[in-house]
Amino acid sequence: MPLKPDNCTLVIFGAHSDLAIRKLFPSLYELALWGHLPDEYRIIGVGRATLTLEEFRKKVHEKMAVLFPETLQDEAAFRSFSARLFYVGVDFSRREEYHALQKEIMEGGAGSGAKANLLFYLATPQALAPVIVSNLGHAGLGEKDGSRGSWRKIIVEKPYGSNLQTARELNTGIGQVFHEERIFRIDHYLGKETVQNIMVFRFSNGIFEPLWNRHNIANVAITIAEEFGIRDRGAFYEEAGLLRDIMQNHALQLLASVAMEPPVDFSADAVRDEKAKLLRSIRPITPQSVRGAVVLGQYEGYRTEKNVAPDSTVETFAAIKFFIDNWRWKDVPFFVKAGKNLAETVTEIVITFKCPPQNYFGSSENCCYTANQVILRIQPEETIAIKFGAKRPGEALITDPVFMKFDYKSSFTEAGMTPYHRLLLDAMAGDQMNFIRQDSVEYSWEIIDAIREAVGTQPPESYPAHSWGPQSVQAIYC
Ligand code: BG6
Repeated sequence: MPLKPDNCTLVIFGAHSDLAIRKLFPSLYELALWGHLPDEYRIIGVGRATLTLEEFRKKVHEKMAVLFPETLQDEAAFRSFSARLFYVGVDFSRREEYHALQKEIMEGGAGSGAKANLLFYLATPQALAPVIVSNLGHAGLGEKDGSRGSWRKIIVEKPYGSNLQTARELNTGIGQVFHEERIFRIDHYLGKETVQNIMVFRFSNGIFEPLWNRHNIANVAITIAEEFGIRDRGAFYEEAGLLRDIMQNHALQLLASVAMEPPVDFSADAVRDEKAKLLRSIRPITPQSVRGAVVLGQYEGYRTEKNVAPDSTVETFAAIKFFIDNWRWKDVPFFVKAGKNLAETVTEIVITFKCPPQNYFGSSENCCYTANQVILRIQPEETIAIKFGAKRPGEALITDPVFMKFDYKSSFTEAGMTPYHRLLLDAMAGDQMNFIRQDSVEYSWEIIDAIREAVGTQPPESYPAHSWGPQSVQAIYC
């Protein structure tokens, strides 16, 4: 078993949020069950509602029992976890109310180790982050007030800001209370086994890396498709749209992982240096290049979703053709597509290789049918496939595409961790490898801001639910 993190107190702002209920509490409970949490730990939920401790514990139990009945079958285990759960009702914007939190942290019943090390988690709407962090600072709970030998850290959920300017403002605010080494900007995609495997696949196998460049690769296509709509997140989507919700973070991080240069070592900063460098090399979309490079869409029926304006022009789909202006990738198109209410739920990266110089087999001059591909499927199946041409049985020399496939589930018996298990442990242990550094956040916003500016007021094209997006998408794939 890996080393346990230091004893600590985890303080979750937004204790009643969907994220806390669906992901954080269940992940922490399972980590406790598996023995991964420190010997002394406390979890303090912070929310606006006034609840007694018993009411809070009961609420968490009830919600988890509905969502994860199988996990909760062991009542005794849940009781022991629940005894570590605490609650403080705080109006996030009222500075004076943070003293109750400070008192709970410092005087509540737990070992001194748990009190010394504090991990704050902002599971709140992004707009509340500055005021919460500033109030933590005033209550003497920020990193810069911590005693020597102990630590204080903060996990901030995406999106970090809503554009370059607000991301910088947010960072300035957080930076007054926490140093960069103590700020964990979470993008849960980076906690997925299959996303982490992109780098392992590239850099632990000698056969792929020599081919991984403009001389051999024709294009790279990244797809993050979801067959469901915005669910009950109308208010959030009206503010964010798909570019901010998925493109700025998940999609660009996948692109960075598949295209970055090898790092000097596998330390957090070496890896993040290369990702930042890659994002910085992405050619900005301009008003001159936007046509044929960007298609935004909105699914039919979006405007009648709850909390959505009847004339909303928010995008729920984006397809973008990127180019990376560096030595390795010059002129190789990266097609990145993401959307809600599409035909299928799938996240994958398809690397298509150039055709052989001569097409000896088959009747067509076009080799696309059998072009070699490496297909990294992130979800729902966790597979890697290599596509190549094979002779169709029979008299004639005809080539058909066939696949060699690796499947996580059939190759490994160990159960993988979910992103939140892994990232919570990483943050406790202080490993920033799978958290986004501020420079990458800023480069990503530069890319997205330029797209938004280039698109201007042009409304998104509508597309039928459960399709593959607007008709005009095909135009960018050439
Ligand atoms: C979230 C986005 O970050 O990621 C959602 O806000 C999206 O819109 C979700 O549905 C996808 O994550 P996963 O891991 O469920 O595929």
